[in-house]
Amino acid sequence: MISGHDERVTPSAPLVVGPAARPAWAVPALAAAGIRTSRRRLQRNMPHPQEPPSGIHPLLAGRFSPYRFDPSAVVDDHALGLLLEAARWAPSAGNSQPWGFFVGRPGEPEHDRLLPHLAPSSARWATDAGLLVVTLTRRHVDDTGLLYSEFADHDLGQAVAHMTVQAQAMGLAAHQFRAFDLEGLTKELDPNPGWAIVSMVAIGEAAGGPPLGRERRGVADLRSAPWSPAE
Ligand SMILES: Cc1cc2nc3c(=O)[nH]c(=O)nc-3n(C[C@H](O)[C@H](O)[C@H](O)COP(=O)(O)O)c2cc1C
Repeated sequence: MISGHDERVTPSAPLVVGPAARPAWAVPALAAAGIRTSRRRLQRNMPHPQEPPSGIHPLLAGRFSPYRFDPSAVVDDHALGLLLEAARWAPSAGNSQPWGFFVGRPGEPEHDRLLPHLAPSSARWATDAGLLVVTLTRRHVDDTGLLYSEFADHDLGQAVAHMTVQAQAMGLAAHQFRAFDLEGLTKELDPNPGWAIVSMVAIGEAAGGPPLGRERRGVADLRSAPWSPAE
């Protein structure tokens, strides 16, 4: 089963999380628990499409997840090496470095192994990217079921963030995604016991600017939401 983005099937009813219905993969824990979030509360917290303010670093302000990549733009070996170096130098709990990557570029056999597992929604744009990255976390100690690190997924996310910002610094753009067949891709790549595929990243030259209507919760909400009474 394709599990991701708009193809994702969850046991719960569709989740309404804002002015427009948002795919359930965006808030998997809520969806899995069958919790519906108040439309009024989320409208207040995500009031309008926004632009990043001036003052934050241009690499962060200029970053966005493209829905179109230039298919003629190549990610060469040097660029690929730097993207992986950026991830490699991310901090991690106890320097555990619980991350792993599988990469493929158009024309490479590795890329051919990834394409069949993309969901239709991501295949529309990820196929054109100069690089596809599968991200893995070392979640367990081999096949013991013991956690390798309490922070493994957190640390992987941080390494991917480093990769994303490095891409931006090199004139590339990254779109992380979950819209792929996790089970099928896991069978295909067959990682060692304890390793789990978490996400994919399409990296390349963006064709066009950021999508319209990007939203963010307000800074005040970031500070108050964990303590606000539920409506
Ligand atoms: C772990 C993760 C999974 C994501 N999965 C998808 C996805 O399956 N499909 C998609 O179109 N975007 C996906 N995204 C991209 C987000 O939708 C996007 O980052 C968010 O809407 C904010 O937009 P921006 O990156 O342009 O600021 C994912 C992002 C992350 C970090």
